[in-house]
Amino acid sequence: MSAVRSEDMISLRPMTAEDVDAVVELERASYAYPWTAGIFNDCLRMGYYAFLLETEEGIQGYYMASVAVHEGHLLNLCVDEKLRGRGLGRQLLRHAMALFRAEQAETVFLEVRPTNKAAIALYESEGFVEIGIRKDYYRSRGDREDALILARDLILA
Ligand SMILES: CC(C)(COP(=O)(O)OP(=O)(O)OC[C@H]1O[C@@H](n2cnc3c(N)ncnc32)[C@H](O)[C@@H]1OP(=O)(O)O)[C@@H](O)C(=O)NCCC(=O)NCCS
Repeated sequence: MSAVRSEDMISLRPMTAEDVDAVVELERASYAYPWTAGIFNDCLRMGYYAFLLETEEGIQGYYMASVAVHEGHLLNLCVDEKLRGRGLGRQLLRHAMALFRAEQAETVFLEVRPTNKAAIALYESEGFVEIGIRKDYYRSRGDREDALILARDLILA
């Protein structure tokens, strides 16, 4: 049984370059086309906002986000497969939304695969709406897959 239970309030810490190897391990277990260590390191060098959920069992979730000119972008959000369905993804997302507000973002954007039903349900339940499609945005088996662009307005919300 994991140390993280659904009723626990999670506490996150910033991701550093020392975490990247462990983060990439989780990333590879979670995505068919995972980000590389180079992408995580570039994001950290750019000063993007990167937070981790860590317990004594290791890194169990993370997100990566950027903010520029009052626009937030959620670039990655991931929870260890063994711990999904316990509210951790929602808590990570809410942490990111609090950060976007603190950084004066007025709108938050993200891309998601149309086939990623769990993520879409999470985002829509937190007030994101579909605003468009990026054609052929993602790699996919033998082809490309479109991305749905979701957005949430933080001014009116
Ligand atoms: C998307 C992800 C972060 C959700 O994390 P999680 O900890 O399982 O999510 P939560 O337990 O907080 O669930 C929040 C909501 O998401 C939706 N959801 C989660 N799992 C779902 C599933 N298997 N099917 C449908 N909806 C699901 C539900 O609306 C759920 O709310 P509810 O529990 O009130 O019904 C997780 O599935 C993940 O890491 N996936 C791989 C990486 C990924 O695809 N990230 C998103 C990239 S855009």
